[in-house]
Amino acid sequence: MKPRQIVPNVHLIGAVDWDRRLFDQLIPLPHGTSYNAYFIQGSDKAALLDTVDPAKWETLERQLATLPAPDYLVIHHVEQDHSGATPQILDLYPDVTIVCNEKARGMLIDHLHVDDARFLVVADGDSVSLGDKTLTFVFTPWVHWPETMSTWLEEDRILFSCDFFGSHYATNDVFADRHEVYDGAKRYYAEIMMPFGTQVTKNVEKVTRLPIRYIAPSHGPIYDDPAFIIEAYRDWAAGDPQNMVCLPFVSMHDSTLRMVDHLTAALTDRGVAVERFDLASLDAGELASSLVHAGTIVLGTPTVLTGPHPLAAYAAYLANALKPRTKYATVIGSYGWGGKTVETIVDMMGKLKVEFLDPVLAKGMPRDADFAALDALADTIAQKHEGLARRRMADLTVCRTAQD
Ligand code: FEO
Repeated sequence: MKPRQIVPNVHLIGAVDWDRRLFDQLIPLPHGTSYNAYFIQGSDKAALLDTVDPAKWETLERQLATLPAPDYLVIHHVEQDHSGATPQILDLYPDVTIVCNEKARGMLIDHLHVDDARFLVVADGDSVSLGDKTLTFVFTPWVHWPETMSTWLEEDRILFSCDFFGSHYATNDVFADRHEVYDGAKRYYAEIMMPFGTQVTKNVEKVTRLPIRYIAPSHGPIYDDPAFIIEAYRDWAAGDPQNMVCLPFVSMHDSTLRMVDHLTAALTDRGVAVERFDLASLDAGELASSLVHAGTIVLGTPTVLTGPHPLAAYAAYLANALKPRTKYATVIGSYGWGGKTVETIVDMMGKLKVEFLDPVLAKGMPRDADFAALDALADTIAQKHEGLARRRMADLTVCRTAQD
């Protein structure tokens, strides 16, 4: 794929990874991903922004062969899907200078053994002139590592944001179709940004003081209607939880499944949305995405070896690590003779600022009294959710405005 122009003298390069299906050996990639790099040619100097995953180095190398030698390599983030081909760039261009912040400098030395003599370390707000184009570095920490920063290209009003606003979405379209990219961008937010929601909100407000025309992330397509993804980020990071129960469950002999089915119906009857996930075939990205807006988490698990089923323990661990803004949580499921399932789950979800509702545990196959307890739980959740709404992409203010 040849370099693709965004505006004159600013090109999208890098690689589309159509076939990759797993990231970090953890995150499913149903739509593949991309590792975007950018090439900016000024009247005096040129800059390459980021590299690619080392597995795609040859793709980037072929594109660079069609372009002048860069004077600068800007590293926004040291995770190797973006910085991993830095050693190859340094070998190819012996005079190139790496531009990054102090935290990134240390990380590049640690992770990639980069020569300490190759750096120009910048502070928040510093600029580098390419002649008729100016790169200004905007520190955006914790989206999603401590060193993450963005670059503002003032003359063309482009924000190069790296992971921030990105999506694991393989496409050869340069610009995003909001209907295609929304779910992927939300999944990506959920998978890596959600634990840092407060910092995300601060960074959104920081960068939106700039008169942005384009947001160019390092995964997925470029936004030529940046208000769409900015408003989505505001909703994901700071919007109220929704009138929705996220219900991950696992069942071995259908007892817990019967309880999950009953609770799903009872919540539906009370006007509460349910997003269910069978943990035996879990897509962790879908569960993470659901957690972004869940008003309540109900974890369905049988008791196994005196505690939660290991798949339920994984879901509890994941929720705890992702720190969603959920308000309520509880456990339902069956047991054979005893155990500490609820205590274990509560301990595992200790980082969440949730009110734990009374669990519903059935001894063996659930009986009428257990179903009545599930009805009572549904009543409680419906009452707790009063005032919470249900929102989707079409409810974003910016979308309504655009469609009007
Ligand atoms: Fe896309 Fe945090 O790397």
